[in-house]
Amino acid sequence: MKTIIYNIGTLAGILPSDVRRLEGEQMNHVECMENAYLVIEDGIITEYGPAVISPLASLGRNDSAGVGIKNRATPLAAGGRSIPKEAKGVVFNTDAGTDAEFIDAQGGFVMPAFCDSHTHIVYAGCRDGEFRDKIAGLSYEEIAARGGGILNSADLLHATSEDELYEQSMVRVREIMAMGTGAVEIKSGYGLTVEDELKMLRVIRRIKETAPITVKANFLGAHAVGRAYKGRQSEYVDLVCNEMLPRVAEEGLADFVDVFCDAGFFTVEDTEKILSKAAEYGITPKIHANELEVSGGVQVGVKYNALSVDHLEMTTDAEIEALRGSVTMPTMLPGCSFFLGIPFGRAKDYIEAGLPVALASDYNPGSSPSGNMRFVMALGCIRMRLTPEQSFNACTINTAYAMGVSDQLGSITVGKKANLIITKPLPSLAFIPYSHQTPIIEKVILNGIAVTK
Ligand code: NIG
Ligand code: FE
Repeated sequence: MKTIIYNIGTLAGILPSDVRRLEGEQMNHVECMENAYLVIEDGIITEYGPAVISPLASLGRNDSAGVGIKNRATPLAAGGRSIPKEAKGVVFNTDAGTDAEFIDAQGGFVMPAFCDSHTHIVYAGCRDGEFRDKIAGLSYEEIAARGGGILNSADLLHATSEDELYEQSMVRVREIMAMGTGAVEIKSGYGLTVEDELKMLRVIRRIKETAPITVKANFLGAHAVGRAYKGRQSEYVDLVCNEMLPRVAEEGLADFVDVFCDAGFFTVEDTEKILSKAAEYGITPKIHANELEVSGGVQVGVKYNALSVDHLEMTTDAEIEALRGSVTMPTMLPGCSFFLGIPFGRAKDYIEAGLPVALASDYNPGSSPSGNMRFVMALGCIRMRLTPEQSFNACTINTAYAMGVSDQLGSITVGKKANLIITKPLPSLAFIPYSHQTPIIEKVILNGIAVTK
């Protein structure tokens, strides 16, 4: 089945097929093509190029598709029974075939769907009560220390059936797809017992199997010490290493392993223990580091070849140095900084140091109750002073890298999955983060199929 998107005003985010991530100055540019078409076959981008309006079309003879273009090297399908009137006379460098489906982009942008490489969207209920505590002045750490926070979510999750958890989570999956997210990494970490962690990971697997969005599962048993282990942190770490990880690996439930390596949560030593155990099972780490303090989490992540180290609100030059020459993607979560009122991290310094930067939503009930990647892109510009191009790259190809899918997603590239956003006509790329609440998304296409009207 072939789909042709025509009448594209700007095709944005074009990259060669061998680019896995963009770093330093490479982040300054987004390759675009004006007046383009794009062809999708079996969910994959197979072709794109500049569309030419045939002379006959400009004479108003739009009914002559297949005639006016006869002299072209590879003409629009003769006959063109299924070609919509508006597309007739547009020359594609492709044979449309008679069963092709046509989508009119109406002069809008077509860009890669966002990849959100850090979320916690499988959770039960919400934490709107803590929102009041926060407004009243309590910090994230204070709420957690009172038994709220992650432990509050763990209690709610424990009391929720697997089916119900799936249904609640799917509401958020549909929400983020409609906002243009085409790939999402989802963490466990609200279970904190063997059974509840497995329950979360099974729900993530079910989302993977049933939703058109690309999903990666991350085992975050070390998100907080479970209630039953209060005051016995090292025993809880042993539980993660010796009971949770083997079960998770045996059932093939996780693509990644994560640790919340930060003040009041897990130490560098705890983290090393978990990462070395995960390495035995061949599970790649992604680390929560430096949200609340300069924790050493970046260095330990780099040491274990983490795919990403995330948060980084608290950064010294030592973290920048540690990341140089590594495979690890520094990932910042401006939605969390915004919601908690904590620093935004030094994304610009990272880029100036020649490093890549990714921006993800951190969608979760405690520190970032939003999965809107356009807002993330806007915060990247407004609060981190990234250019629109840097922010765009940070939310697409670099987040694709940070979740291990940049060979298949994150750019307009022949051979990649057709996960695309079609927007209304826009004056420029900058308009996307600049006018960040304007509803510009016309259509979201995942695996070549529209998931929105
Ligand atoms: O990334 N920092 C740790 N984990 C989440 C918050 C989880 C929660 O509060 O529920 C985060 O911000
Ligand atoms: Fe997180």
